[in-house]
Amino acid sequence: MKIGKFLLMVFYLFIFNIQNLLADEVKMAKGLEIFNETAGCAGCHALNAAGSVANIGPNLDTVSLTEELVKEMVTYGLGVMPAYGEGILTEEEIDIVSFYVANSAGK
Ligand code: HEC
Repeated sequence: MKIGKFLLMVFYLFIFNIQNLLADEVKMAKGLEIFNETAGCAGCHALNAAGSVANIGPNLDTVSLTEELVKEMVTYGLGVMPAYGEGILTEEEIDIVSFYVANSAGK
């Protein structure tokens, strides 16, 4: 009986991990689409993982970025960089593209 419960717990943890991995993968794919198409970040920024080579803004592979920093930059903009929080992207899209950039910079 005890072994049975233990195995059941291992099984649940396994499924939970797979779900998380899948969720992250979906977010990365959606983030790439927002980066290249919906928001057009690729028109200004180089990011190797996204295949972009533009150089109007900083090369995102060479600056050190946290997800929070990207989110702030995308929401409020700065100079030439548009403020996407002002009705260009939804909050969810900003979360996703920030997750994408923070997790693909330098790769
Ligand atoms: C019209 C060109 C343009 C677009 C489009 C653009 N950016 Fe930028 N971005 C810039 C410029 C220019 C800067 C530098 C701003 C400054 O320092 O004055 C910048 C800065 C940044 C920074 C800060 C980099 C650092 O040095 O720390 C991040 C992160 C960033 N952009 C991410 C994004 C993302 C993600 C998108 C798409 C949602 C995007 N940008 C769209 C031009 C752009």
